[in-house]
Amino acid sequence: MPVLRLPLVCGIMLSFGGMGMGLADEPTPAERKVAEAGRVDGHSYGNPRQVRVEHLDLYLTVDFAAKELRGEAVVRYKRQPGAPADAPLILDTRDLTIVSVTYLGDPHLDLSVPFTVGKPDPILGAPLTIDLKEVPASSPVIITYRTSPKSSALQWLDAPRTAGRKRPFLFSQSQAIHARSWIPCQDSPGVRVTYNAQIRVPEGLAAVMAADRVKQEGDTTTFKMDRPIPSYLIALAVGDLVFRPLGKRTGVWAEPSVVAKAAYEFADTEKMVEAAEALVGPYRWGRYDILVLPPSFPFGGMENPKLTFATPTVLAGDRSLVALIAHELAHSWSGNLVTGATWRDFWLNEGFTTYLERRIVESLYGKDLAAMEAVLGKQELLSEIAKFAPKDEVLHVDLKGRDPDEGMTRVPYEKGALLLTRLEQVVGREKLDAFLKGYFDHFAFQSITTADFEGYLRDQLFPDGKEPIDIREWIHTPGVPPDAPSPRSERFTVLDDLASRWSHDKMPVRDLKAETWPTLEWLHFLRALPERLSPQKMAELDNAYNLTDRGNAEIAGEWLLLSIRSGYRGADARLDEFLTTIGRRKFLLPLYTELAKTPAGKARAKAIYAKARPFYHPIAVESVDKLLGGGG
Ligand code: BES
Ligand code: ZN
Repeated sequence: MPVLRLPLVCGIMLSFGGMGMGLADEPTPAERKVAEAGRVDGHSYGNPRQVRVEHLDLYLTVDFAAKELRGEAVVRYKRQPGAPADAPLILDTRDLTIVSVTYLGDPHLDLSVPFTVGKPDPILGAPLTIDLKEVPASSPVIITYRTSPKSSALQWLDAPRTAGRKRPFLFSQSQAIHARSWIPCQDSPGVRVTYNAQIRVPEGLAAVMAADRVKQEGDTTTFKMDRPIPSYLIALAVGDLVFRPLGKRTGVWAEPSVVAKAAYEFADTEKMVEAAEALVGPYRWGRYDILVLPPSFPFGGMENPKLTFATPTVLAGDRSLVALIAHELAHSWSGNLVTGATWRDFWLNEGFTTYLERRIVESLYGKDLAAMEAVLGKQELLSEIAKFAPKDEVLHVDLKGRDPDEGMTRVPYEKGALLLTRLEQVVGREKLDAFLKGYFDHFAFQSITTADFEGYLRDQLFPDGKEPIDIREWIHTPGVPPDAPSPRSERFTVLDDLASRWSHDKMPVRDLKAETWPTLEWLHFLRALPERLSPQKMAELDNAYNLTDRGNAEIAGEWLLLSIRSGYRGADARLDEFLTTIGRRKFLLPLYTELAKTPAGKARAKAIYAKARPFYHPIAVESVDKLLGGGG
């Protein structure tokens, strides 16, 4: 296939594989159009192709009483070559009150600038259009604004909802398109900015951001992010937080009562960074710290640069869930360094990261553990795909008209990881590793499309045009291709056999000898059991191994799911407690879904949700509302 290259303004070399008959190195206008179209983000109102935001200076006051951030965003931007001279600057917002827009004129007076806020869309929010006609070329604009108490990114927790119960807590979650609910910005992963921030907080609270902490003066902390990042990686937390170093460039932030447990759990972090560097090249972000959030954090982890945000449910006490840290750390390359340009390209972030996560796990803890993670991952993928519409099984997924949070299925993660594992099989590990290093180097600090990846892959690994795997099928068609790798774990095969024998009354529960099973073995065993067990069998297992009382959230989640399906009442109180104290979407959605399958279960789900809802983050509330039909 002919491969054509088009140098872009931003310096990216774009390749086109097999898109027609352009002359030599010149793409045809049609090819240019296709490549540009892939870069257009349907989830942002921003106009970066005309006027592109490059830097933000944020001056924000954190007001817990009003549940609002207020202050200024100073926006620096650049008019793009070829853009009309009168093109406005268009930013994304959601539920922001824009007080004024000005620019700093001569002699240092704020001069007002005309702006409009469009009609809000339920998914996208509202465009903020700033008329630049009277603004002298390249003068930054100053947006004075405040957030709404219902900002979809922010959770304001009253003191009783925190570990210490004495001080309130605030945290942000910007991915996918929630940054716009606390910062007016071009909220697209294709637009990268540097930023500085000055954050003022009430006395006795500490502010942390996913950035360098440059100074602390009175109640104000100054942060700096000097590498260009997409808006979904801007992150802030405020609370009673303390820091504990782990290694020379690693450490953990948490509430005082949690920090020792967290430091124990994450003891291997420095080694993880070293393992990742050996695999994919230098860590380019300086420090790597972890922030442990309150249990309402809606995700397991979020790869905010320099400062991973993590759920406290990862603190199992035995370090058995730290693959999550390997995952978020791996995003320092796949996602944060090289970013999918739109939410359709999300699999470039998560598929690569899931693959790298397992390589890091393998290098620290061995092949067996990494294989177990891969087996569990593929099982989750297959069982999810069984319930999906074909169009949602595609890596380069079509998200038109949908909330990108809905694209967060196992497909980008596990099918993406399988593709890389498949590539490893066909070219060999050594060659794939060299390819990965080269990929991160080549595209460092850029946002790229799936087509950019395909072009680079073909160029680097299959320059002669012979493709030993069907790349197009892998990326653009539904289902799991027939050549997908099948990870295996011998230990899991043994557990399959035990699950079958015990559930069919062919062996006594004690003979499982499950007292010392590690977390992943329990997870696999529970999943290997029949869909439903009799309440007697459930009680038998529970009495023998105390499953209802397990603190490990992964095991508890799996056990509670089985309990609902089996109508086992012994876990009722635990389910209640679990759903009202943990706000992690990955646990909430399957449990509420399972409950809602029967009328009695649905009534119960609604009763629990009515209690729990005020404690969940807006992102979790949005999903559970949808699931249970309405506001709890
Ligand atoms: N970046 C994701 C979290 C995310 C994705 C938030 C899409 C919002 C929209 C993060 O890296 C992630 O994948 N977290 C997983 C844990 C991981 C071990 C699979 C999670 O939160 O469950
Ligand atoms: Zn991830």
